[in-house]
Amino acid sequence: MNSLTKHLEKSIKLAEKNNLHNDLWRLSFHLMPPVGWLNDPNGLCYFKGEYHIFFQYSPLNANGELKFWGHYKSKDLINWQYLGVPLLPDQPFDCHGAYSGSALIEDDKMYLYYTGNVKYTGENYDYINNGRGSNTILATCDGNVITSKKCLLTNDDYPKNLTCHVRDPKVWKEDNQYYMVLGARTKDDKGVVLLYNSLDKINWTLKNIIESKNTFGYMWECPDLFKLDNETILMISPQGVEKQGYKYENIYQSGYYILDGDYKTSNYTLNEFTEIDRGFDFYAPQTFLDNNNRRILAGWLGLPDIEPFYTNKTIENGWQHALTIPRVLNIVDKKIYQQPIEELKNLRKDKLNIKNNEEYNLDCCFELLIEDISNNITITLADNAIIQYENNLFTLKFNNKDLGCGRTSRSVELNHCNKIQLFVDYSSIEIFINDGEEVFSTRFYPTEKNINIKINNSTSKNSLWPLDSFSII
Ligand code: FRU
Repeated sequence: MNSLTKHLEKSIKLAEKNNLHNDLWRLSFHLMPPVGWLNDPNGLCYFKGEYHIFFQYSPLNANGELKFWGHYKSKDLINWQYLGVPLLPDQPFDCHGAYSGSALIEDDKMYLYYTGNVKYTGENYDYINNGRGSNTILATCDGNVITSKKCLLTNDDYPKNLTCHVRDPKVWKEDNQYYMVLGARTKDDKGVVLLYNSLDKINWTLKNIIESKNTFGYMWECPDLFKLDNETILMISPQGVEKQGYKYENIYQSGYYILDGDYKTSNYTLNEFTEIDRGFDFYAPQTFLDNNNRRILAGWLGLPDIEPFYTNKTIENGWQHALTIPRVLNIVDKKIYQQPIEELKNLRKDKLNIKNNEEYNLDCCFELLIEDISNNITITLADNAIIQYENNLFTLKFNNKDLGCGRTSRSVELNHCNKIQLFVDYSSIEIFINDGEEVFSTRFYPTEKNINIKINNSTSKNSLWPLDSFSII
Protein backbone atom coordinates (compact mmCIF):
# COMPACT_ATOMS: atom_id res chain seq x y z
CA MET A 1 0.00 0.00 0.00
CA ASN A 2 1.51 3.36 -0.97
CA SER A 3 1.28 6.39 1.32
CA LEU A 4 -1.33 8.05 -0.92
CA THR A 5 -3.59 5.00 -0.50
CA LYS A 6 -3.14 5.18 3.29
CA HIS A 7 -3.85 8.91 3.33
CA LEU A 8 -7.00 8.56 1.21
CA GLU A 9 -8.34 5.69 3.32
CA LYS A 10 -7.81 7.70 6.49
CA SER A 11 -9.53 10.79 5.04
CA ILE A 12 -12.54 8.72 3.93
CA LYS A 13 -12.91 7.14 7.39
CA LEU A 14 -12.85 10.57 8.95
CA ALA A 15 -15.37 12.02 6.47
CA GLU A 16 -17.75 9.07 6.87
CA LYS A 17 -17.91 9.65 10.65
CA ASN A 18 -20.22 12.56 9.85
CA ASN A 19 -23.70 11.29 10.70
CA LEU A 20 -26.43 12.56 8.38
CA HIS A 21 -29.33 10.56 9.84
CA ASN A 22 -31.24 13.57 11.12
CA ASP A 23 -31.38 15.21 7.72
CA LEU A 24 -35.01 15.63 6.65
CA TRP A 25 -34.07 15.07 3.00
CA ARG A 26 -32.18 11.77 3.36
CA LEU A 27 -33.96 9.18 1.23
CA SER A 28 -35.24 5.93 2.65
CA PHE A 29 -35.43 3.53 -0.32
CA HIS A 30 -32.67 4.87 -2.54
CA LEU A 31 -28.92 4.36 -2.43
CA MET A 32 -27.13 7.54 -1.43
CA PRO A 33 -23.56 8.56 -0.64
CA PRO A 34 -22.92 7.97 3.08
CA VAL A 35 -21.49 11.53 3.01
CA GLY A 36 -20.36 13.87 0.25
CA TRP A 37 -21.24 13.47 -3.40
CA LEU A 38 -22.48 10.60 -5.59
CA ASN A 39 -22.82 10.47 -9.37
CA ASP A 40 -22.96 7.59 -11.87
CA PRO A 41 -23.87 4.00 -11.05
CA ASN A 42 -20.84 1.81 -11.87
CA GLY A 43 -20.03 -1.88 -12.12
CA LEU A 44 -23.66 -3.05 -11.85
CA CYS A 45 -23.71 -6.84 -11.71
CA TYR A 46 -25.07 -10.02 -10.19
CA PHE A 47 -22.17 -11.92 -8.62
CA LYS A 48 -22.28 -15.13 -6.58
CA GLY A 49 -25.92 -14.69 -5.59
CA GLU A 50 -25.73 -10.97 -4.82
CA TYR A 51 -26.39 -7.70 -6.60
CA HIS A 52 -23.44 -5.31 -6.57
CA ILE A 53 -23.87 -1.61 -7.14
CA PHE A 54 -20.78 0.58 -7.22
CA PHE A 55 -21.09 4.32 -7.63
CA GLN A 56 -19.00 7.40 -8.40
CA TYR A 57 -18.30 8.85 -4.99
CA SER A 58 -16.57 11.96 -3.61
CA PRO A 59 -16.70 11.36 0.13
CA LEU A 60 -14.54 14.41 0.77
CA ASN A 61 -16.71 17.02 -0.94
CA ALA A 62 -20.48 17.41 -1.42
CA ASN A 63 -19.73 19.26 -4.68
CA GLY A 64 -17.79 16.42 -6.26
CA GLU A 65 -14.14 16.70 -7.38
CA LEU A 66 -11.91 13.67 -6.65
CA LYS A 67 -13.84 10.50 -7.67
CA PHE A 68 -13.67 7.12 -5.97
CA TRP A 69 -15.90 4.05 -6.31
CA GLY A 70 -18.23 3.38 -3.38
CA HIS A 71 -19.83 -0.04 -3.08
CA TYR A 72 -23.17 -1.53 -1.98
CA LYS A 73 -24.36 -5.12 -2.27
CA SER A 74 -27.64 -6.93 -1.65
CA LYS A 75 -29.25 -10.34 -2.06
CA ASP A 76 -32.73 -8.90 -2.69
CA LEU A 77 -32.31 -5.23 -3.73
CA ILE A 78 -33.98 -4.21 -0.43
CA ASN A 79 -31.54 -5.22 2.33
CA TRP A 80 -28.18 -3.66 1.59
CA GLN A 81 -24.68 -3.78 2.90
CA TYR A 82 -22.33 -0.83 2.47
CA LEU A 83 -18.87 -2.15 1.69
CA GLY A 84 -16.96 1.12 1.75
CA VAL A 85 -14.71 2.48 -0.97
CA PRO A 86 -12.81 -0.29 -2.76
CA LEU A 87 -11.48 1.73 -5.69
CA LEU A 88 -9.23 4.66 -4.89
CA PRO A 89 -7.50 7.11 -7.26
CA ASP A 90 -4.12 6.13 -5.87
CA GLN A 91 -1.99 5.18 -8.90
CA PRO A 92 -0.21 7.35 -11.50
CA PHE A 93 -2.74 6.14 -14.10
CA ASP A 94 -5.89 7.12 -12.11
CA CYS A 95 -4.66 9.76 -9.64
CA HIS A 96 -7.22 12.44 -10.57
CA GLY A 97 -10.23 10.19 -10.42
CA ALA A 98 -11.34 6.58 -10.67
CA TYR A 99 -13.98 7.44 -13.26
CA SER A 100 -16.98 5.42 -14.43
CA GLY A 101 -16.97 1.87 -15.67
CA SER A 102 -18.61 -1.52 -15.63
CA ALA A 103 -18.32 -5.10 -14.38
CA LEU A 104 -17.77 -8.30 -16.33
CA ILE A 105 -18.56 -11.52 -14.47
CA GLU A 106 -16.98 -14.73 -15.70
CA ASP A 107 -16.21 -18.02 -13.90
CA ASP A 108 -17.15 -16.53 -10.54
CA LYS A 109 -14.67 -13.71 -11.02
CA MET A 110 -15.42 -10.00 -11.10
CA TYR A 111 -13.55 -7.79 -13.56
CA LEU A 112 -14.08 -4.05 -13.21
CA TYR A 113 -13.19 -1.84 -16.17
CA TYR A 114 -12.99 1.88 -15.50
CA THR A 115 -11.35 5.11 -16.63
CA GLY A 116 -8.32 6.42 -14.81
CA ASN A 117 -8.47 10.19 -15.12
CA VAL A 118 -5.18 12.09 -14.98
CA LYS A 119 -4.80 15.86 -15.20
CA TYR A 120 -1.26 16.96 -15.96
CA THR A 121 0.00 20.27 -14.58
CA GLY A 122 2.65 22.80 -15.48
CA GLU A 123 1.56 23.82 -18.99
CA ASN A 124 -1.22 25.81 -20.58
CA TYR A 125 -3.48 22.83 -21.01
CA ASP A 126 -7.14 23.10 -22.04
CA TYR A 127 -7.85 19.54 -20.74
CA ILE A 128 -9.87 18.82 -23.89
CA ASN A 129 -7.22 18.48 -26.58
CA ASN A 130 -4.30 18.21 -24.22
CA GLY A 131 -3.33 17.84 -20.58
CA ARG A 132 -5.63 14.94 -19.78
CA GLY A 133 -5.03 11.21 -19.59
CA SER A 134 -8.04 8.89 -20.01
CA ASN A 135 -6.69 5.45 -19.24
CA THR A 136 -8.71 2.27 -19.54
CA ILE A 137 -8.00 0.21 -16.43
CA LEU A 138 -8.89 -3.32 -15.41
CA ALA A 139 -9.32 -3.96 -11.69
CA THR A 140 -10.02 -7.45 -10.42
CA CYS A 141 -12.29 -7.68 -7.40
CA ASP A 142 -13.13 -10.59 -5.11
CA GLY A 143 -16.57 -9.11 -4.50
CA ASN A 144 -15.28 -7.04 -1.64
CA VAL A 145 -11.75 -5.73 -2.17
CA ILE A 146 -9.73 -4.88 -5.26
CA THR A 147 -7.02 -7.49 -5.81
CA SER A 148 -5.15 -5.94 -8.77
CA LYS A 149 -5.19 -2.96 -11.13
CA LYS A 150 -3.73 -2.85 -14.61
CA CYS A 151 -3.68 -0.07 -17.20
CA LEU A 152 -4.82 -1.52 -20.57
CA LEU A 153 -5.15 1.48 -22.90
CA THR A 154 -3.90 5.06 -22.81
CA ASN A 155 -4.72 8.04 -25.07
CA ASP A 156 -1.93 6.98 -27.45
CA ASP A 157 -3.95 3.86 -28.23
CA TYR A 158 -7.15 5.67 -29.21
CA PRO A 159 -7.86 6.96 -32.74
CA LYS A 160 -5.92 10.11 -33.63
CA ASN A 161 -8.96 12.25 -34.43
CA LEU A 162 -10.13 12.17 -30.79
CA THR A 163 -9.67 14.71 -28.04
CA CYS A 164 -8.45 13.49 -24.63
CA HIS A 165 -12.09 12.84 -23.65
CA VAL A 166 -12.44 9.05 -23.96
CA ARG A 167 -14.05 7.17 -21.07
CA ASP A 168 -16.59 4.96 -19.33
CA PRO A 169 -15.85 1.42 -20.58
CA LYS A 170 -18.83 -0.95 -20.71
CA VAL A 171 -17.66 -4.52 -21.29
CA TRP A 172 -19.54 -7.69 -22.19
CA LYS A 173 -18.92 -11.18 -23.54
CA GLU A 174 -20.43 -12.36 -26.80
CA ASP A 175 -19.61 -15.53 -28.82
CA ASN A 176 -16.53 -16.26 -26.70
CA GLN A 177 -15.08 -12.84 -27.36
CA TYR A 178 -15.12 -9.66 -25.29
CA TYR A 179 -16.42 -6.30 -26.42
CA MET A 180 -16.06 -2.85 -24.92
CA VAL A 181 -17.67 0.46 -25.77
CA LEU A 182 -16.08 3.77 -24.77
CA GLY A 183 -17.62 7.23 -25.01
CA ALA A 184 -15.56 9.88 -26.81
CA ARG A 185 -15.34 13.40 -28.20
CA THR A 186 -13.67 13.99 -31.57
CA LYS A 187 -11.41 16.94 -32.31
CA ASP A 188 -14.24 18.51 -34.31
CA ASP A 189 -16.61 18.19 -31.37
CA LYS A 190 -18.71 15.20 -32.28
CA GLY A 191 -19.81 12.61 -29.74
CA VAL A 192 -18.98 9.03 -30.82
CA VAL A 193 -18.68 5.54 -29.36
CA LEU A 194 -15.57 3.38 -29.83
CA LEU A 195 -16.11 -0.37 -30.09
CA TYR A 196 -13.17 -2.51 -28.98
CA ASN A 197 -12.71 -6.24 -29.16
CA SER A 198 -10.55 -8.70 -27.18
CA LEU A 199 -9.92 -12.43 -26.95
CA ASP A 200 -8.38 -12.36 -23.47
CA LYS A 201 -9.96 -9.39 -21.60
CA ILE A 202 -6.54 -7.67 -21.55
CA ASN A 203 -5.47 -6.88 -25.11
CA TRP A 204 -7.99 -4.76 -26.98
CA THR A 205 -8.20 -3.73 -30.62
CA LEU A 206 -10.43 -1.09 -32.14
CA LYS A 207 -13.20 -2.73 -34.12
CA ASN A 208 -15.49 0.14 -35.08
CA ILE A 209 -16.54 3.71 -34.39
CA ILE A 210 -20.28 4.06 -33.91
CA GLU A 211 -21.67 7.49 -34.67
CA SER A 212 -24.82 9.27 -35.75
CA LYS A 213 -25.03 10.63 -39.32
CA ASN A 214 -25.39 14.18 -38.07
CA THR A 215 -23.55 15.44 -35.02
CA PHE A 216 -25.65 14.95 -31.89
CA GLY A 217 -23.72 16.68 -29.12
CA TYR A 218 -19.97 17.14 -28.74
CA MET A 219 -19.39 14.27 -26.29
CA TRP A 220 -21.07 10.93 -25.64
CA GLU A 221 -20.58 9.74 -22.07
CA CYS A 222 -21.43 6.41 -20.43
CA PRO A 223 -22.24 4.26 -23.49
CA ASP A 224 -24.01 0.93 -23.10
CA LEU A 225 -24.80 -1.53 -25.88
CA PHE A 226 -27.12 -4.48 -25.34
CA LYS A 227 -29.81 -6.68 -26.84
CA LEU A 228 -33.34 -6.13 -25.58
CA ASP A 229 -36.25 -8.21 -26.89
CA ASN A 230 -34.51 -8.76 -30.24
CA GLU A 231 -33.53 -5.13 -30.69
CA THR A 232 -29.99 -3.77 -30.36
CA ILE A 233 -29.89 -0.75 -28.09
CA LEU A 234 -27.13 1.84 -27.98
CA MET A 235 -27.59 3.94 -24.86
CA ILE A 236 -25.54 7.12 -24.39
CA SER A 237 -25.44 10.29 -22.32
CA PRO A 238 -24.73 13.05 -24.84
CA GLN A 239 -23.50 16.52 -23.93
CA GLY A 240 -24.07 19.60 -26.08
CA VAL A 241 -27.50 18.82 -27.52
CA GLU A 242 -29.72 21.85 -28.17
CA LYS A 243 -33.19 22.04 -26.61
CA GLN A 244 -35.99 21.34 -29.13
CA GLY A 245 -39.45 22.17 -27.78
CA TYR A 246 -40.02 19.82 -24.83
CA LYS A 247 -37.05 17.67 -25.79
CA TYR A 248 -33.53 17.90 -24.39
CA GLU A 249 -34.44 20.49 -21.78
CA ASN A 250 -31.79 19.47 -19.24
CA ILE A 251 -28.17 20.56 -19.39
CA TYR A 252 -27.19 17.03 -20.59
CA GLN A 253 -29.31 14.15 -21.88
CA SER A 254 -29.55 10.38 -21.49
CA GLY A 255 -31.24 8.19 -24.03
CA TYR A 256 -30.92 5.49 -26.63
CA TYR A 257 -30.91 4.58 -30.27
CA ILE A 258 -32.39 1.38 -31.63
CA LEU A 259 -29.58 0.18 -33.88
CA ASP A 260 -30.39 -1.74 -37.06
CA GLY A 261 -27.77 -3.81 -38.85
CA ASP A 262 -24.35 -4.84 -37.57
CA TYR A 263 -22.60 -2.54 -35.11
CA LYS A 264 -19.34 -4.45 -35.62
CA THR A 265 -19.11 -3.13 -39.19
CA SER A 266 -20.01 0.09 -40.95
CA ASN A 267 -23.24 -1.60 -41.97
CA TYR A 268 -25.54 -0.18 -39.28
CA THR A 269 -28.04 2.63 -38.85
CA LEU A 270 -29.06 4.48 -35.73
CA ASN A 271 -32.77 5.25 -35.51
CA GLU A 272 -34.21 8.25 -33.71
CA PHE A 273 -32.70 9.17 -30.31
CA THR A 274 -35.18 8.78 -27.45
CA GLU A 275 -34.74 10.21 -23.96
CA ILE A 276 -34.92 7.68 -21.14
CA ASP A 277 -36.25 10.07 -18.50
CA ARG A 278 -38.06 13.38 -18.84
CA GLY A 279 -37.57 14.81 -15.34
CA PHE A 280 -35.06 17.31 -13.97
CA ASP A 281 -32.70 14.83 -12.34
CA PHE A 282 -31.46 11.91 -14.35
CA TYR A 283 -28.14 11.07 -16.01
CA ALA A 284 -25.53 8.43 -16.81
CA PRO A 285 -27.67 5.26 -16.62
CA GLN A 286 -26.11 1.81 -16.85
CA THR A 287 -27.77 -1.58 -17.36
CA PHE A 288 -26.95 -5.20 -16.52
CA LEU A 289 -28.56 -8.63 -16.80
CA ASP A 290 -29.47 -10.37 -13.56
CA ASN A 291 -29.83 -14.09 -12.87
CA ASN A 292 -33.47 -13.95 -13.99
CA ASN A 293 -32.42 -12.44 -17.30
CA ARG A 294 -33.94 -9.09 -16.43
CA ARG A 295 -32.27 -6.12 -18.10
CA ILE A 296 -32.08 -3.75 -15.11
CA LEU A 297 -31.21 -0.07 -15.39
CA ALA A 298 -30.09 2.28 -12.65
CA GLY A 299 -29.31 5.93 -13.23
CA TRP A 300 -27.92 8.86 -11.33
CA LEU A 301 -30.87 10.73 -9.78
CA GLY A 302 -29.03 13.93 -10.56
CA LEU A 303 -27.03 15.77 -13.19
CA PRO A 304 -23.73 17.62 -13.31
CA ASP A 305 -23.48 21.39 -13.92
CA ILE A 306 -27.13 22.12 -12.99
CA GLU A 307 -26.26 25.42 -11.35
CA PRO A 308 -27.27 28.18 -12.07
CA PHE A 309 -30.54 26.61 -13.26
CA TYR A 310 -31.37 24.70 -10.10
CA THR A 311 -29.66 23.16 -7.12
CA ASN A 312 -29.95 20.71 -4.23
CA LYS A 313 -30.55 21.92 -0.72
CA THR A 314 -28.67 18.97 0.77
CA ILE A 315 -25.28 20.46 -0.18
CA GLU A 316 -25.37 22.60 2.95
CA ASN A 317 -25.91 19.40 4.95
CA GLY A 318 -22.79 17.77 3.54
CA TRP A 319 -24.14 15.46 0.85
CA GLN A 320 -25.71 15.46 -2.60
CA HIS A 321 -27.47 13.06 -4.98
CA ALA A 322 -28.66 9.45 -5.04
CA LEU A 323 -29.23 6.62 -7.49
CA THR A 324 -32.66 6.07 -9.04
CA ILE A 325 -34.70 3.06 -8.08
CA PRO A 326 -33.70 0.21 -10.42
CA ARG A 327 -35.99 -0.28 -13.43
CA VAL A 328 -36.59 -3.32 -15.61
CA LEU A 329 -36.46 -2.65 -19.34
CA ASN A 330 -38.56 -4.12 -22.12
CA ILE A 331 -39.45 -3.13 -25.66
CA VAL A 332 -43.06 -2.29 -26.52
CA ASP A 333 -43.76 -1.07 -30.07
CA LYS A 334 -40.12 -0.23 -30.74
CA LYS A 335 -39.80 1.80 -27.55
CA ILE A 336 -38.11 1.03 -24.22
CA TYR A 337 -40.64 0.76 -21.39
CA GLN A 338 -39.33 0.96 -17.82
CA GLN A 339 -40.94 -0.69 -14.82
CA PRO A 340 -39.80 -0.28 -11.22
CA ILE A 341 -38.32 -3.55 -9.95
CA GLU A 342 -40.94 -5.89 -8.42
CA GLU A 343 -38.88 -6.14 -5.23
CA LEU A 344 -40.09 -2.69 -4.16
CA LYS A 345 -43.49 -4.23 -3.42
CA ASN A 346 -41.84 -5.79 -0.35
CA LEU A 347 -41.57 -2.30 1.13
CA ARG A 348 -45.33 -1.69 0.99
CA LYS A 349 -47.10 -1.20 4.33
CA ASP A 350 -50.91 -1.30 4.69
CA LYS A 351 -52.70 0.18 1.72
CA LEU A 352 -54.65 3.44 2.08
CA ASN A 353 -57.52 4.42 -0.16
CA ILE A 354 -57.19 7.93 -1.40
CA LYS A 355 -60.40 9.56 -2.64
CA ASN A 356 -60.36 11.94 -5.53
CA ASN A 357 -60.56 15.67 -4.91
CA GLU A 358 -59.78 15.38 -1.18
CA GLU A 359 -56.65 16.50 0.56
CA TYR A 360 -54.54 14.13 2.69
CA ASN A 361 -51.54 14.82 4.87
CA LEU A 362 -49.05 11.94 4.85
CA ASP A 363 -45.51 10.92 5.64
CA CYS A 364 -43.53 11.80 2.49
CA CYS A 365 -42.45 8.23 1.75
CA PHE A 366 -44.94 6.26 -0.33
CA GLU A 367 -45.93 4.60 -3.57
CA LEU A 368 -49.08 5.90 -5.23
CA LEU A 369 -50.77 3.96 -8.02
CA ILE A 370 -53.46 5.76 -10.01
CA GLU A 371 -55.41 3.63 -12.50
CA ASP A 372 -58.39 4.13 -14.81
CA ILE A 373 -57.63 7.78 -15.30
CA SER A 374 -60.13 9.61 -17.47
CA ASN A 375 -59.40 12.84 -19.25
CA ASN A 376 -57.30 15.35 -17.42
CA ILE A 377 -55.68 14.69 -14.08
CA THR A 378 -53.78 16.84 -11.61
CA ILE A 379 -51.84 15.45 -8.67
CA THR A 380 -50.58 18.01 -6.18
CA LEU A 381 -47.78 17.14 -3.76
CA ALA A 382 -46.61 19.43 -0.96
CA ASP A 383 -49.02 22.11 -2.32
CA ASN A 384 -46.68 23.21 -5.09
CA ALA A 385 -45.37 20.18 -6.97
CA ILE A 386 -47.86 19.67 -9.79
CA ILE A 387 -48.08 16.51 -11.87
CA GLN A 388 -50.58 16.96 -14.64
CA TYR A 389 -51.97 15.43 -17.82
CA GLU A 390 -53.93 17.88 -19.95
CA ASN A 391 -54.50 18.26 -23.70
CA ASN A 392 -52.14 15.41 -24.56
CA LEU A 393 -49.35 16.93 -22.53
CA PHE A 394 -47.88 15.37 -19.41
CA THR A 395 -46.20 17.95 -17.17
CA LEU A 396 -44.24 18.05 -13.93
CA LYS A 397 -43.86 21.55 -12.57
CA PHE A 398 -43.04 23.45 -9.41
CA ASN A 399 -45.14 26.47 -8.52
CA ASN A 400 -42.79 27.45 -5.75
CA LYS A 401 -39.11 28.22 -6.19
CA ASP A 402 -38.09 26.85 -2.79
CA LEU A 403 -39.81 23.49 -3.19
CA GLY A 404 -38.17 22.81 -6.55
CA CYS A 405 -34.97 24.67 -5.66
CA GLY A 406 -35.15 26.44 -9.04
CA ARG A 407 -36.70 23.56 -10.98
CA THR A 408 -39.44 24.90 -13.26
CA SER A 409 -41.36 22.67 -15.67
CA ARG A 410 -40.76 19.57 -17.81
CA SER A 411 -43.27 18.04 -20.25
CA VAL A 412 -43.75 15.29 -22.76
CA GLU A 413 -46.41 14.91 -25.44
CA LEU A 414 -48.44 11.75 -24.89
CA ASN A 415 -51.57 10.65 -26.71
CA HIS A 416 -53.08 8.96 -23.68
CA CYS A 417 -52.53 8.62 -19.95
CA ASN A 418 -54.47 5.98 -18.06
CA LYS A 419 -52.02 4.93 -15.38
CA ILE A 420 -49.54 6.79 -13.19
CA GLN A 421 -47.28 5.20 -10.58
CA LEU A 422 -45.41 7.51 -8.25
CA PHE A 423 -42.57 6.78 -5.85
CA VAL A 424 -42.06 9.60 -3.38
CA ASP A 425 -39.12 9.48 -0.96
CA TYR A 426 -38.75 12.64 1.21
CA SER A 427 -36.82 14.61 -1.42
CA SER A 428 -37.35 12.63 -4.62
CA ILE A 429 -40.23 11.81 -6.96
CA GLU A 430 -40.14 9.16 -9.70
CA ILE A 431 -43.16 8.99 -11.99
CA PHE A 432 -43.90 5.99 -14.23
CA ILE A 433 -46.60 6.71 -16.82
CA ASN A 434 -48.61 4.06 -18.73
CA ASP A 435 -46.54 1.15 -17.35
CA GLY A 436 -43.25 2.86 -18.06
CA GLU A 437 -43.87 4.41 -21.47
CA GLU A 438 -42.42 7.62 -20.01
CA VAL A 439 -40.59 8.26 -16.73
CA PHE A 440 -39.90 11.52 -14.89
CA SER A 441 -37.38 11.71 -12.04
CA THR A 442 -36.85 14.75 -9.89
CA ARG A 443 -35.63 15.99 -6.54
CA PHE A 444 -37.76 18.37 -4.42
CA TYR A 445 -37.35 19.83 -0.97
CA PRO A 446 -40.46 19.87 1.25
CA THR A 447 -39.94 21.55 4.61
CA GLU A 448 -41.76 18.88 6.66
CA LYS A 449 -41.67 15.07 6.85
CA ASN A 450 -45.41 15.10 6.15
CA ILE A 451 -46.78 16.61 2.96
CA ASN A 452 -50.22 17.34 1.55
CA ILE A 453 -51.42 15.27 -1.35
CA LYS A 454 -54.44 15.70 -3.57
CA ILE A 455 -55.64 13.95 -6.74
CA ASN A 456 -58.03 15.76 -9.05
CA ASN A 457 -59.77 13.35 -11.40
CA SER A 458 -63.30 11.98 -11.60
CA THR A 459 -62.81 8.28 -12.28
CA SER A 460 -59.41 7.13 -11.17
CA LYS A 461 -58.84 4.30 -8.68
CA ASN A 462 -56.10 5.25 -6.30
CA SER A 463 -53.97 3.05 -4.07
CA LEU A 464 -51.37 4.44 -1.75
CA TRP A 465 -48.86 2.40 0.20
CA PRO A 466 -46.67 4.06 2.83
CA LEU A 467 -43.26 2.46 2.25
CA ASP A 468 -40.70 0.94 4.57
CA SER A 469 -37.05 1.91 4.28
CA PHE A 470 -34.18 -0.10 2.86
CA SER A 471 -32.16 -1.72 5.55
CA ILE A 472 -28.52 -0.70 5.12
CA ILE A 473 -25.79 -2.11 7.35
C1 FRU B 1 -20.79 11.12 -16.19
C2 FRU B 1 -19.30 11.27 -16.00
C3 FRU B 1 -18.53 10.18 -16.72
C4 FRU B 1 -17.26 10.12 -15.92
C5 FRU B 1 -17.75 10.36 -14.52
C6 FRU B 1 -16.80 11.08 -13.62
O1 FRU B 1 -21.52 11.74 -15.19
O2 FRU B 1 -18.86 12.54 -16.42
O3 FRU B 1 -18.33 10.42 -18.08
O4 FRU B 1 -16.61 8.91 -16.03
O5 FRU B 1 -18.95 11.11 -14.64
O6 FRU B 1 -17.30 11.12 -12.33
